[in-house]
Amino acid sequence: MFHMDFFGDRMLIAVIAIVHVIINHALAVGFLPIVTLMEYRGYKLKKLGDAESEKWDELGYKLMFFAFVITTSIGALTGVGIWFSTALVSPASIGSLIRVFFSAWFFEWVIFMLEVIFIMIYFLTWKKSRVDIKSKRNHVRVGAVLSGFSWLTMAIIVGILGFMMDTGSWTQNKTLLDGFFNPIYLVQLAFRTPMAFVMGGAVALFLTLYHLKKHTEFRTKVLRNLNLWMFLWTPHVFAAGIYYYYKIPELMLGNITVAIGTQAFQNWYDSFLYSLLALIIVSMLVNIWTVLKPKWTSKYLMLFTLFIVLFTMGTFERVREFIRKPYVLEEYMYSNQLRVEDYSKYKQDGILVHAVYAKYSVVTDLNKIEAGKDVFMIACSRCHTVAGVNSVVNKFENLFSPNGEPLDKTKMQQYIPVMEKARYFMPPFPGNNAEADALVDFIISEQYSRNYINGAQSTGVDISKQQSEVLKN
Ligand code: HEC
Repeated sequence: MFHMDFFGDRMLIAVIAIVHVIINHALAVGFLPIVTLMEYRGYKLKKLGDAESEKWDELGYKLMFFAFVITTSIGALTGVGIWFSTALVSPASIGSLIRVFFSAWFFEWVIFMLEVIFIMIYFLTWKKSRVDIKSKRNHVRVGAVLSGFSWLTMAIIVGILGFMMDTGSWTQNKTLLDGFFNPIYLVQLAFRTPMAFVMGGAVALFLTLYHLKKHTEFRTKVLRNLNLWMFLWTPHVFAAGIYYYYKIPELMLGNITVAIGTQAFQNWYDSFLYSLLALIIVSMLVNIWTVLKPKWTSKYLMLFTLFIVLFTMGTFERVREFIRKPYVLEEYMYSNQLRVEDYSKYKQDGILVHAVYAKYSVVTDLNKIEAGKDVFMIACSRCHTVAGVNSVVNKFENLFSPNGEPLDKTKMQQYIPVMEKARYFMPPFPGNNAEADALVDFIISEQYSRNYINGAQSTGVDISKQQSEVLKN
């Protein structure tokens, strides 16, 4: 297994994916329609022979420059990065998703290609399109189609994200459409769409103040429009957010207190929610203020709203990713990549016999600690490290040895077979008693040494004698 013991494997995916989703929502899905509307406004004024037309067109172009550079570089690279990181950290679940959603992803890929082609055309022909009114009209159309493609790629991916939280009727029928139109799909789309619009608005406001430093009548007009845009979409985010909350499978809701701010801050859950609500209200007040006092506004104030908007989005993503635990694909596969239906077999035979890449297939007195490490890798390492973020040793110390006294073997042995009952977000332990025992010994052996352990990317793989026999035949 690929493993990074310092940051933890979850963090690798999280960092790449969060950068990607922010760029996608704030600079593509929510931003492209704004740019297109600005250009459209310029086009309308041009038809009337109004001189302000050029200002709208120029501002639209400047905003598009920023979106073009960021989406085609960091945006595209992090998109590919999600594939690399998920395929390394969680190959079984990404494999399952590809099997279920092959056609959806293929379709999404085609649309993504079109999106890239259209963004090239849109940005690179902008200046040329100024020659006459007909070219401008066609150019605005390209912007509209581009905005549509951009939304469509999101609309497809959301089907897959929703599936991970609630597989719906797919578990019985196993068809693509059952999986795609899962119970979470439409609500999540209804939430993400206005959220992206608000995010796009916040970025556009910041960039507008960055480019138009002086207070002018034109700037006031732009600010009023952008603020109105944000102000109108924010309640949709609220409404969809509440609806979304009621669509979350009930057992998962139990995870929310930990999801929002880790176990350590679990009791702050309420105050955290209220602060978030307060922040959103403050951001709406900033919108009102900017409309009423366009002279007294600055890009720093906008940076503040931008921060609030991104923070809200980040919280949403964190919660979404957390509460679906213990599953990576609800009811079908746990986050440790083991299928729910295979569990009884693992509990009975032990997990090591079924693992291709484990050094030993049976725990003995001589190999206990090494075998225990393999058990840790298989059962815990997708979420825990030994010595880094969310260290399993720390977690047991917090529970049983708060003052650093030696870990109590018996208590740990009692904990592991019922761990899913202690904390719903953890999958049940997949192995037999001897393996639980080996895992405990391994964790205890690390209590005072805390070595970062290496993944397959640096140590290669070991195959047990039993597995190599299987492979030979
Ligand atoms: C699906 C991910 C996941 C898997 C797999 C997982 N854990 Fe956890 N575990 C967590 C999270 C998340 C926490 C809480 C982290 C926090 O907020 O402090 C946790 C907490 C714990 C705690 C502390 C619980 C408490 O009440 O304080 C222990 C002990 C623990 N894990 C042991 C294990 C062991 C042993 C394994 C492997 C057999 C394992 N976990 C597998 C995600 C996981």
